[in-house]
Amino acid sequence: MYLVLLEGRLTLAPIENPKWVLDVGTGTGLWACDLGDSLPSDCQIIGIDLSPIQPDWYDYLFCVLFVMY
Ligand SMILES: C[S@@+](CC[C@H](N)C(=O)[O-])C[C@H]1O[C@@H](n2cnc3c(N)ncnc32)[C@H](O)[C@@H]1O
Repeated sequence: MYLVLLEGRLTLAPIENPKWVLDVGTGTGLWACDLGDSLPSDCQIIGIDLSPIQPDWYDYLFCVLFVMY
């Protein structure tokens, strides 16, 4: 729904060529991985969450997900 509201954009942050992105409350990590697909591969994306609900089939080369206990 947000993608529709934001006209396909994953973020409204005024950043260009970020090197690091921190996704706090990443949930399944879908947004973090979609963002990783849209950025150059030299950008590191870290997703953190209190809940271990991330699927194990993500490509962790470009998308690192951590769970905080
Ligand atoms: C509605 S989900 C959002 C998922 C994801 N950001 C997305 O856009 O699909 C909110 C997530 O935030 C996590 N969360 C809530 N409080 C948190 C905290 N203090 N630190 C880290 N994660 C938190 C929850 O465990 C939950 O997975």
